[in-house]
Amino acid sequence: MRARIAVLPGDGIGPEVAREARACLEQVASLAGHAFQFLELPIGSAAIDACGTPLPDATLEGCLASDAVFLGAVGDPKHDALPAHQKPEKGLLALRKGLGAFANIRPAFLHPALVNASPLRPEVVRGTDLVIVRELAGGLYFGEPRSLTEDTGTNTLAYSRFEVERIARVAFELAMGRRRKVTSVDKANVLESSLLWRSVVKEVAQGYPEVALEHQYVDSCAMAIVTRPTSFDVVVTDNLFGDILSDEASVLTGSLGMLPSASLGGKVGLYEPVHGSAPDIKGRGVANPLGAILSAAMLLRHSLGLEAEAAALEAAVGRTLDAGYGTPDLKCGRNHVSTRGLADLVRVNV
Ligand code: NAI
Ligand code: MG
Repeated sequence: MRARIAVLPGDGIGPEVAREARACLEQVASLAGHAFQFLELPIGSAAIDACGTPLPDATLEGCLASDAVFLGAVGDPKHDALPAHQKPEKGLLALRKGLGAFANIRPAFLHPALVNASPLRPEVVRGTDLVIVRELAGGLYFGEPRSLTEDTGTNTLAYSRFEVERIARVAFELAMGRRRKVTSVDKANVLESSLLWRSVVKEVAQGYPEVALEHQYVDSCAMAIVTRPTSFDVVVTDNLFGDILSDEASVLTGSLGMLPSASLGGKVGLYEPVHGSAPDIKGRGVANPLGAILSAAMLLRHSLGLEAEAAALEAAVGRTLDAGYGTPDLKCGRNHVSTRGLADLVRVNV
């Protein structure tokens, strides 16, 4: 197949890991006979330097004209003093909005070889393989009215039926290709928005009789994620709860550098490792490229429909970890290699 992929390297270790993810996509394309065309575009601090704005119009237009977007990371301490609306991180928020993404998909998969890299007990985390589906475009972060005076800070938590329906459908579709279980997380004992959430999720579930649905309150779910993570398959929740639970779930997998993500539902899918630009390790060749490479696998699966190629890339990551290799962030008796070295091993294993 032919595909056009926008690559936004960004800042810090962003370009270091994006380069490796792109090379993996090129490797997959050449093995499977696909023609991928890459279009590199500036975002974040790099775009402020080059164009005076964190998301140049040409970058958004280039992304909208592509089949998928891959992003490294944004953020550079040299721009910390800028006002919030001019900061590098604003470029990413504007990009997500411009693409119209409403579903943030964050898998937390603990590779068996990394069972000792997690801070939690091996017998608790062994077998962890869950996905958090976070509603990304609504809820408390966007609700109106919002205001701040000297005495009162106000935000509004509102969801409408169509917003819950579309995110629930993403979760059930995902569950159909996995272990067919959805946990919907809310606070329906206190919040009206959660009562609507729960009833709409139940309605959507009727279209998926093969999928088991359970409801959990967010406080109890927060405990369960670190005490019995293997009881989850797909977790669907709102913007605020999803923000918190997905960071919590990330500790299950050993390193922030391992985690991929996808933001779907808009005109074009956006794929990025969960980590930031890591200025503390920038330019040292030690950044873990696996979160970026696994994000590239998600791109193959969700935007290009290349399931076999996605699975092959994931399996190559698995074999590389099984063989004992890793970057220094994986502190469980690995043979430590560089960013490039680890990505080269993945490519050999594809
Ligand atoms: P961070 O994720 O960049 O780093 C947190 C810690 O994890 C650091 O010690 C870093 O060295 C380590 N780390 C992160 N990714 C790694 C990798 N692939 N391999 C090995 N170690 C890794 O978060 P931090 O330090 O809070 O933020 C740094 C900058 O990144 C800020 O400007 C922030 O706004 C931005 N940021 C951007 C994100 C994005 O582009 N999606 C997400 C989070 C933060
Ligand atoms: Mg967060």
